[in-house]
Amino acid sequence: MVGRGLWGCKNRFGKRSGRFGVVPAVCVGVVGASLLAVLFIDSIELWATSLGMTSSVKGPAQDRLLPQSMPPTRPEEYLLMPSPLVCQRARPYLITMVTTAPPNQRARQAIRDTWGGEVEVRGRRVLTLFMVGVPANPTMGKLLLVEAQEHGDLVQGRFQDTYGNLTLKTLAMLGWVRRFCSQARFVAKVDDDVLFNPSALLRHLDHREPPLQTADGQLADLYLGRVHLHVMPDRNPSSKHFMPTQAYPGTVFPDYCSGTAYVLSRPALLKLSLAATATPLPHPLPPEDVFVGLRAHAAGITPTHCPLFSGGPAVPYSRCCYQAMVSVHHVVPSEMVRFWADAHTSAPCSWLGTRASLGVCKVRALLGTLIGH
Ligand SMILES: *[C@@H]1O[C@H](CO)[C@@H](O)[C@H](O)[C@H]1NC(C)=O
Repeated sequence: MVGRGLWGCKNRFGKRSGRFGVVPAVCVGVVGASLLAVLFIDSIELWATSLGMTSSVKGPAQDRLLPQSMPPTRPEEYLLMPSPLVCQRARPYLITMVTTAPPNQRARQAIRDTWGGEVEVRGRRVLTLFMVGVPANPTMGKLLLVEAQEHGDLVQGRFQDTYGNLTLKTLAMLGWVRRFCSQARFVAKVDDDVLFNPSALLRHLDHREPPLQTADGQLADLYLGRVHLHVMPDRNPSSKHFMPTQAYPGTVFPDYCSGTAYVLSRPALLKLSLAATATPLPHPLPPEDVFVGLRAHAAGITPTHCPLFSGGPAVPYSRCCYQAMVSVHHVVPSEMVRFWADAHTSAPCSWLGTRASLGVCKVRALLGTLIGH
């Protein structure tokens, strides 16, 4: 479209309207506006999303529940975990919990070799751990034990590791961080096929408006990621995400952050955890991200959209774009190692380079989805 627009401009320009005509001025305006739109694509996305968001409704649960009603997390709920003192020693500002299936050993190693291996980013300590359940295959269980002894970064909950149990994995993760990592001001939940960028996240958090710190130094609630708007429950009984009316009577879910990567501040984590334990689990379990959205809604926490979290479409690689993005989904282990090495060992991109690259890679990701890649 941009190409054809330029072509049209050229033709008209050459023919009738002469050097000072109205048409060329309009053409220049359109081209200029398109360039600006590409440069500020994230602001446009943010604005468009905020228009679509359901206005925040304070859930009823927040005032009724007192923090002391939260059941304690018991260490015996975890079959494998690093030392209970891991956070006391590491004092992380940000803890990233990677949800991973037991057989995905290569994905975990790629993460350890890249962003997960970082311990200090922008002057803050960061820590990355992996969250697994119990594999059906006992041999796989033994392999996990060996991996845990070798790396000391696995947390294993007491539930079967299946697709249908992903919500239990998140609950186990929230419980673990609540109990064993009170030092962390932020927790990120990330899937194991995501190229995460702690440095871009911390940069974003540092420059947030309004600031996350209230006047008395308290951290505000934050539930940040790529927000899904107005998603309807799936009423098709043969679907993987079937949600019968008894389990969820509403016609749309509250807006929620995509489960591929999202971030909670400590106060939001505590409220959400409290809301999650206050009501019995629905059957069947909703998808993990929908569940977190429902409980956040009950706790009166509204999701915040951030265009730097990639959604469904794969983002084509470009160095400046990957330096700026907080999370990129659908990255296989070999690519993760290659992209990280290229994007994070080179000099930071200029402001203009970053803006242009971000705009182009977002438009390409969008076009990729439209033509069905
Ligand atoms: C989830 O885990 C529980 C406890 O291990 C198990 O009883 C249940 O069958 C699992 N559910 C699914 C859907 O896999």
